Amino acid sequence: MMSVYVKKNHDAVSEDIVWHNVSVSHLERADVNQQKPVILWFTGLSGSGKSTIANAVEALLFQRGKRSYLLDGDNIRHGLNKDLGFSDQDREENIRRIGEVAKLFVDSGIIVLTAFISPFISDRLKVRQLVESEQFLEVFIDTPLSVCEQRDPKGLYKKARAGEISHFTGIDSEYQAPQNPEIHIKTQDLTIEACATEVVEQLLERGLLSGKG
Ligand code: ADX
Repeated sequence: MMSVYVKKNHDAVSEDIVWHNVSVSHLERADVNQQKPVILWFTGLSGSGKSTIANAVEALLFQRGKRSYLLDGDNIRHGLNKDLGFSDQDREENIRRIGEVAKLFVDSGIIVLTAFISPFISDRLKVRQLVESEQFLEVFIDTPLSVCEQRDPKGLYKKARAGEISHFTGIDSEYQAPQNPEIHIKTQDLTIEACATEVVEQLLERGLLSGKG
């Protein structure tokens, strides 16, 4: 897809725009949901299993009565981010927007799961810095390129190797793996259920699936 996005200065906010305070607090919203809202930021190669595992995690959270929402790369690129392609700059803007949306979900008391390749360390760091330190968990879905390419669920690696798609992550566009992710899932020898359970266990250990305290 051709990129049509032209970068604006996102740091500058007009002096004429004044923050409006709301009367229901973040803590009240979190408490009514009996959970500690957090961004579960899934990152990994295309075909690594991000969306599938995030979806399975959400199902487990739902069974526990937790309030969550999944933002998925392919789906968001059908709507909010359909003007973006896969140049480095477009990926940066993709992640910036999702970071801001995820921050709103956290503020609303929801556990938000995001499944984007998000290949650049600097972009993921910027999202981390948007929220409190305990509100961002990086979940590295660690599947070797050779395995992703063999699975090739959408036939995109084949197209990339044939030169029909350019800037494909892992082929002719870089993937910068997390250096110190909070949750590291090596998917190769695990079932989807096992991967999802490992994520939920980490959430339980961190006390994120209960109310106050
Ligand atoms: S990101 O790099 O900007 O985070 P995102 O997760 O939104 O990417 O979208 C990745 C999905 O778009 C892939 O799973 C794949 O289905 C599709 N896709 C199409 N073209 C590319 C490409 N050049 N590189 C990576 N993914 C692509």
